Amino acid sequence: MTIHIGARPGEIAETVLMPGDPLRAEWAAQTFLDDAVCVNRVRGMLGYTGTWRGHRVSIHGSGMGMPSLSIYANELIRDYGAKTLIRIGSCGAMQPHVGLRDIILAMTASSMSTPSRGIFRELNFAPCADWPLLRAAVAATEARGMTPHVGGVYSADVFYDERPDLNELMTRHGILGVEMEAAELYNLAARHDVRALAVLTVSDHLLTHQALPSEDRERSFGEMVEIALTAAFA
Ligand code: ADE
Repeated sequence: MTIHIGARPGEIAETVLMPGDPLRAEWAAQTFLDDAVCVNRVRGMLGYTGTWRGHRVSIHGSGMGMPSLSIYANELIRDYGAKTLIRIGSCGAMQPHVGLRDIILAMTASSMSTPSRGIFRELNFAPCADWPLLRAAVAATEARGMTPHVGGVYSADVFYDERPDLNELMTRHGILGVEMEAAELYNLAARHDVRALAVLTVSDHLLTHQALPSEDRERSFGEMVEIALTAAFA
């Protein structure tokens, strides 16, 4: 047990999918895993372990934002031996050619700041996805008849942004979408020599102000789970 995870040693798999919402972790485990067992309930941050096509996998909530993700990812990696961590979540599109429901695979994650800022100090570290995992996720997305957008995302510290000029700067520099966790996940993966990827679906559009209805969010979420599982065990 750690401070924030109640699982016993050995109860977390080496491969962990991390949705922001703990109830999504529960839904994904019950929908996609065989023999799913709840291994964490501390603070309602649900974590499950089961098998998918014979592979052992955990699905554990990250909470919203990089400080929350940092707590769970650190403990999953350092205390439970997680080796592959895949964020599955939503993002807001920042490019006209990116549409609602599209899949974005985050090759890199820019940020204003991350919880690792105090460690990197003057270094502008470039957080990036694990390449074999990214390549496998491209193949898994294409196998489902979809074409993923692969490129940079922006990991924001705030959801309610007061800086339209910043969004415009991102758009001008080709950033595909905004979310709130990938950059620190990639920082931690680099620091601890494990694999990480963020698989995202577009839930809202910053340029058109459209947003997905909730039933579509569930369908998109299911697709992401399947892409992440297929990529993890490719
Ligand atoms: N996640 C989904 N949509 C988002 C947005 N517009 N900003 C930050 N995170 C998001």
